[in-house]
Amino acid sequence: MPNGIPAPRQPGHIAIIMDGNGRWAQQRRRPRMIGHRAGARAVNRTIDFCLQHGIGVLTLFAFSSENWGRPQEEVDALMKLFLGALDREVDELHRRGVSVRFIGDRSRFAAGIVQRMDRSEQRTAGNSAMVLNIAASYGGRQDIALAARALAQRVADGSLQPEQIDEELLGQQVALADLPAPDLFIRTGGDTRISNFLLWQLAYTELWFTDVLWPDFDAAILQQALDDFAGRERRFGLTSAQIAAGTAQSALP
Ligand code: FPP
Repeated sequence: MPNGIPAPRQPGHIAIIMDGNGRWAQQRRRPRMIGHRAGARAVNRTIDFCLQHGIGVLTLFAFSSENWGRPQEEVDALMKLFLGALDREVDELHRRGVSVRFIGDRSRFAAGIVQRMDRSEQRTAGNSAMVLNIAASYGGRQDIALAARALAQRVADGSLQPEQIDEELLGQQVALADLPAPDLFIRTGGDTRISNFLLWQLAYTELWFTDVLWPDFDAAILQQALDDFAGRERRFGLTSAQIAAGTAQSALP
């Protein structure tokens, strides 16, 4: 690693775009849902790995605000898969000390799903081994727009002056504001895009892309990403010399 102090060797927060389920199924001449089901198993492997390695926060992009535009049959089947996974896994996640949270626009889900989301959150809220954030009906632009709207509302009701609005205040309104920002972003499936995921929160996140399709994601590939991360120098806009001298701590975000 060049000059800089080693970054904390392990990310405290990993955010993942789980892409490639459909292609994985296509390669096997199976329906897309078979890929999503295999993707759900990869989710379990990833949670296991993070728990075993003491990674404090895992954020998974399960369903984007744009995914509602997929064929109705696929959307319905995905909802069924999410419900099944929620019903099956929450007890076990709770037993293992995982706090489950959802980010995104809940109002678009059927009432039964929202009820289970709420219940899972309430049930696991006190857990501290790991926070698992599931982004569902989530979009990064929507997240920022809603944060702006919340501040605008406070200006309108007279409790906030426009000149008081700064990065810190807006940052307190976006999703995951109470958690450290992601240290490492992973996208599987070969595309090198952020696709409207956590636009605000990823400002200084290290990005890692792999061609591996999500259902094939496993501990060995996650370890590759962690090894790559451990070798990176995070400068947060400063110089290597400043980071090495440790004189700029107060300037770091
Ligand atoms: C992207 O692959 C994946 C999704 C839109 C769904 C993600 C869902 C899972 C991983 C299943 C279970 C998740 C939870 C949280 C229980 P794609 O369909 O876009 O794949 P493609 O690009 O190959 O078509």
